Amino acid sequence: MDLPIPQIQGLRGERQIPGDKSISHRALMIGAISDGVSEIRSCSRAADPMSTLSCVRQLGLDIEDLGDRILIHGKGRRGLVQPSTPLDAGNSGTTMRLFSGILSGQKFASTIVGDSSLSRRPMKRILDPLRLMGANIQGSKGNTAPLIIQPVEQLNAISYNLPVPSAQVKSALIFAGLYARGETTIQETVKTRDHSERMLGLRTSTKEGLYIVEIHPGIRVEGKKFFVPGDMSAAAFLLAAGLLVPGSNLRIKNVGLNPTRRRILDILKSMGGNITIENERVVAGEPLGDLNVKYSDLRSDLELGGSEIVDIIDEIPILAVTCLFAEGSLRIRDAQELRAKETDRISAIVHNLRRMGVLAEEYQDGFAFEGKQKMKGGVLPSYGDHRIAMSFGIASLRIPDSTIEGAECVEISYPGFWKDLLS
Ligand code: S3P
Repeated sequence: MDLPIPQIQGLRGERQIPGDKSISHRALMIGAISDGVSEIRSCSRAADPMSTLSCVRQLGLDIEDLGDRILIHGKGRRGLVQPSTPLDAGNSGTTMRLFSGILSGQKFASTIVGDSSLSRRPMKRILDPLRLMGANIQGSKGNTAPLIIQPVEQLNAISYNLPVPSAQVKSALIFAGLYARGETTIQETVKTRDHSERMLGLRTSTKEGLYIVEIHPGIRVEGKKFFVPGDMSAAAFLLAAGLLVPGSNLRIKNVGLNPTRRRILDILKSMGGNITIENERVVAGEPLGDLNVKYSDLRSDLELGGSEIVDIIDEIPILAVTCLFAEGSLRIRDAQELRAKETDRISAIVHNLRRMGVLAEEYQDGFAFEGKQKMKGGVLPSYGDHRIAMSFGIASLRIPDSTIEGAECVEISYPGFWKDLLS
C-alpha cells in the first residue's frame, strides 16, 4: 500500500499505544508453560505477538480471548503437545528465537518456520548455545530458518557468556534452562532488556562488570496475572512526531519505563525535547507512566556507540529521523546489529535519507549526517520493515509530497499507527 502523508497542524490529545511487544511475547509463552491459569491484560494485538499466540494454540493450550484479557489454561512446562503442522513465527524473531529454547526441552519433534525476512535472519546465535546444552536443533544452510528440533533425553545446564548482546538469545537460553539438569548461568557484558528474568522472578546479580542471570530448573512457574505496559519502542514514534510537528501537545498513557528500555527518553530530552513523565508507578513488576510531549526546538551533537547501542537498538531509525530536523549532527557506530533486523536498517535508513536529498555517510556499523539539510519529498520505501515505515512516515510530516511505499507493514508492531498519527 502506498500512503501519501498529509501535512498536519499538530498532534493533540491523548493516545494509548499498543502493549509492549517484548513483554506480550513473554507473557504468552510463560503462560503456556505455567501450572494453572494466567491472565494477560493489555496484551499487544500486533501481528508479531499474535504469531506467538497462534503458536501457543498450536501447542495445545486452551486460550480464552476476552478482548481486554487473554486467559491461558497452562498445564505446566511438560504440558505442551506436539503440533501437527510447523509453527509459524511469521515476521517475528522473538517468536522464533524464544520458542526454540522452549521446544528444545520438549519430548516431541517440532519445526518453526518464518516469512521471507525472518528466514534470512541469523539463527547461529541460538543454535550454538542450545547445542552446547545438548539440544538437537538444526537450521538450514547458512544457519537460518526453518528450524527443526528433535527431542533429546535431557538438556544440560551451561554457563554462557553472550557473545552478541541479545535479549532474544538470553531469553531462549533462560527458557531452555528451565528444562536442563542443573543450574544454568548467563553472563552479559552489556545488559540487554530484562523482561524474561523479571517475569520469571529469576535471581540476577552484577559481578566484575558482568550482569548474571541464574536459572534453576526447580523454580516454580505458576499461572499469574500479567499487565502489559504500553510499548516504549512504539511511544518513541509519537514522541518524535510530537517534538517535530509545530503546535503538538500530546499525552501518551501507560508507557513502560523499564530502565533497559527508556534511554531514548533521556536522549530526546538531552536534545531539548519537551517531554515530561507523570503518574510513575510499578504494575506487575514493570515500571510505567504517562508521557507528555510538546513541539520543541531541537539540537543534537550526538555520537552514540559502544554499550549505549543496546538500549536504543529499536529506536535508532526514529532517532535518525528526529535528528534530521535538529541543529547539529548524529553519528551512530557499533550498531552492526541493525543489519540483522527485519531489514538491513543501516542500508534502509541511508537509502531513504539520500532519496530525501540528505548527504549521509554509511559505515559497516552505522551512519552519520548533519541535521537541517535541504530535503525534498518523494516515494520512501518501507522495505517491509515496520520501524522504517513509521520513522519515515514521521519525517514525511515535515516534508510535503512524501509517500510511504509498503505502509501496511506497521501492523507488525503497531496496528492503527497511521490513524493514531494522522487523526
Ligand atoms: C527483543 C530484543 C531485541 C529487539 C527486538 C525484541 C526481545 O532483539 O531488537 O525488537 O523481545 O527480546 P535482539 O535481542 O536480537 O537484539
